[in-house]
Amino acid sequence: MCGIVGYAGPSEASGRPLDVALDGLRRLEYRGYDSAGVALVTPGQGGVASAKKSGKLANLVEEIAAHPLPDATASIGHTRWATHGGPSDANAHPHLADDGRLAVIHNGIVENFATLRAELAADGATFLSETDTEVTAQLLAREYRAAGDLTAAMAATARRLTGTFTLLAVHADAPGTVVGARHDSPLVVGIGEGENFLGSDVAAFVAHTSEALELAQDQVVTITATSVDVTDFDGTPAEGKRFTVTWDAAAAEKGGFGSFMDKEIHDQPQAVADTLLGRSDAQGRLVLDEVRIEESVLRAVDKIIVVACGTAAYAGHVAKYAIEHWCRVPVEVELAHEFRYRDPIVDERTLVVAISQSGETMDTLMAVRHAREQGAKVLSIVNTHGSSIPRESDAVLYTHAGPEIAVASTKAFLSQITAAYLLGLYLAQLRGNKFPDEVGVLLDELRDMPRKVRTVIERGEYVRATARSMAESDKVLFLGRHVGYPVAMEGALKLKELAYIHAEGFAAGELKHGPIALIDSGQPVFVVVPSPHGRDQLHSKVVSNIQEIRARGARTLVIAEDGDDEVRAYADEIFWVPRAPSLMQPLLAVVPLQIFAMALAGAKGLDVDQPRNLAKSVTVE
Ligand code: F6R
Repeated sequence: MCGIVGYAGPSEASGRPLDVALDGLRRLEYRGYDSAGVALVTPGQGGVASAKKSGKLANLVEEIAAHPLPDATASIGHTRWATHGGPSDANAHPHLADDGRLAVIHNGIVENFATLRAELAADGATFLSETDTEVTAQLLAREYRAAGDLTAAMAATARRLTGTFTLLAVHADAPGTVVGARHDSPLVVGIGEGENFLGSDVAAFVAHTSEALELAQDQVVTITATSVDVTDFDGTPAEGKRFTVTWDAAAAEKGGFGSFMDKEIHDQPQAVADTLLGRSDAQGRLVLDEVRIEESVLRAVDKIIVVACGTAAYAGHVAKYAIEHWCRVPVEVELAHEFRYRDPIVDERTLVVAISQSGETMDTLMAVRHAREQGAKVLSIVNTHGSSIPRESDAVLYTHAGPEIAVASTKAFLSQITAAYLLGLYLAQLRGNKFPDEVGVLLDELRDMPRKVRTVIERGEYVRATARSMAESDKVLFLGRHVGYPVAMEGALKLKELAYIHAEGFAAGELKHGPIALIDSGQPVFVVVPSPHGRDQLHSKVVSNIQEIRARGARTLVIAEDGDDEVRAYADEIFWVPRAPSLMQPLLAVVPLQIFAMALAGAKGLDVDQPRNLAKSVTVE
């Protein structure tokens, strides 16, 4: 939530600080798009120049084109997801203080802002906005007047704030310097040659450098063109952790597709393949070096709790079926924001698995902390390096999906399922529930999935055409059973968030217990049909469910496996997916649902990459 970028360059003023800030904001816009703004340190031109505009980044770019900004030596930039104060020009960041010589941007929520505002107002400060950020700017200005040093002032400010924050500031007195601080909100450093960067995530600067520094909680960082200094909030020098970004800037571009979402759907075979890559030895046996939790602890685990939100939680639901089946250990899936507040039963024998694309979701981060406080080991499945959740976990299994820019998650879902399956197989092998050769067979099935996912994507045109013909729909239902149930919920979520259509996912067996009352003539219902070759007669049960809704007038849109002739008679539309073992089917069945939601939103003229009210990486609770 909120994208933040900072840049410190050579002492010779130039247009680069503005270019870097705008390019960084373009790459971070998925984090929030209620407003955008920049501040530049402009030695010899009055100290600090700024521009800000409500709405998307394009509005700011237009504003700057109409009123050009001077050359500069440092910059900060912000793209906002509104919390305190609506999305207006006045509430947009940066916020200025110290007679316009200090500029501040902020991600997070300052919880004690009302007290601080009253204190500062009593001291003579005046405020132009309703934001908590302006309060931090005024506080920083006061601390700066006292300390005469921006880094010390930032540390003093950070010590006064409660809540969550990443702050960046520039001051006219420190022309080539950007100072930042973080508490429960993301900030990473990009290390360039003769220039340095700050960003909410590496996407902000990966076009300029792939060398990065991870900051720990409660640290202040000061960058100039040639230095990066880190301290704790009490001023004690500290070290960041160096890492190299493994994807290049092109991975964060649309690559010829009309939208990031379309590109990311097409990235999915690669995302699954890359997540599997390097995780087996020369004999093809599963090796997960990253699982740095003692084997004796993992053998003793008597319960697994998956904590996650949204799409990541649905990936967890899918994984539950597989892990319980393979490992014979109970798996609960809990929305991270519910977990922490319900006094969950967690102890040293519980393994908590946190799933998160961004690695920054505050609800999930808080659940991780709570679990560890209760003595549980936490293993996280995360896509973004340098993020908070892996740092606070006992072990991390990275998905290798590459940057996911579209706000609605697609390739992260597939790679999360893949990583969770690897974990399940690893535990099954370790705990003796499966022999290595059995694990090998399942791994081979997984390795075959990228090819099959590609086939589903290649069949996408029929899904798109169907979606275009349904642009007027106002309610769509989704049914699934077993692993098809979370897929149905994920399909409904995609449609809600992209096309703003009321959509609901149900367990097919639950329908007759109430929701079937929703069905009337012409009601579109997607049904994820299990493999006819699977166990437990699930297929025939779902076919019966289709007949029940059809008898009540539903229009059935069926996801079925190639060759499933039985279902053909009951489907108004069929989206075929290749044959796969039951537990692998979610990796295929979800793809037509993603394509459908994207195409229907497109047919309604909506922005599929940046749906209204949403932001990627939800860093507030
Ligand atoms: C939906 C979506 C969200 C995220 C959720 C968790 O398309 O993207 O539901 O899945 O906010 O985000 P991460 O995975 O970053 O923790």
